[in-house]
Amino acid sequence: MAEKLNIGIILGSTREGRVSPQVGQWVKGIADGRGDANYEIVDIADYQLPFLGTTDGSEPGIAKWNEKLASLDGFVFVVQEYNHSLSGALKNAIDFAREVWHDKAAGIVSYGSTGGARAAEHLRGILGELKVADVRTHPTLSLFTDFENFSEFKPAELHLTNVTAMLDEVNAWAGALKTVREKAAVTQ
Ligand SMILES: Cc1cc2nc3c(=O)[nH]c(=O)nc-3n(C[C@H](O)[C@H](O)[C@H](O)COP(=O)(O)O)c2cc1C
Repeated sequence: MAEKLNIGIILGSTREGRVSPQVGQWVKGIADGRGDANYEIVDIADYQLPFLGTTDGSEPGIAKWNEKLASLDGFVFVVQEYNHSLSGALKNAIDFAREVWHDKAAGIVSYGSTGGARAAEHLRGILGELKVADVRTHPTLSLFTDFENFSEFKPAELHLTNVTAMLDEVNAWAGALKTVREKAAVTQ
């Protein structure tokens, strides 16, 4: 049997009081129940990344972040909308890596007043540049109806279907792209 894929559920916010850990744990709970891949939460806050270009790049978190991404075959981005886009923290973290993103697959789970749709669409453009294949199915969570007081996550049941479909697509594409990376490694 083929080895299980490694899928990172990336928390895109670092804000004090953020809700992303609740959303990430919910996605992980659904994902773990499938048993089809190794799923892990990857919290960008843990890497304490500086702003790109403002240091000599020797902070250990930068190398660790790249090592973590290198170990993953695919991603689920937990994306929150900040001023109609993704958070600066997530964009900064994305910019800290290059080749380790290439030829991998990603799904997006977003939230905001309009489901975080604008942030997610901005992220898709960035992922294209990094050769990350983002899947179509995109669970969108509303700050008004999927959270109590904008802080306690209580997702509507209908999102389960979308998360499941998104994970199906991420796994299929991540598996296909793993063979692309393996073929490229052989011919190098
Ligand atoms: C600086 C800032 C800008 C925001 N801009 C938007 C926005 O444009 N659209 C929106 O739907 N929500 C916006 N929000 C609300 C966030 O989506 C909401 O606070 C969400 O919980 C942030 O995710 P987090 O708790 O994981 O940090 C904004 C929040 C902050 C802090």
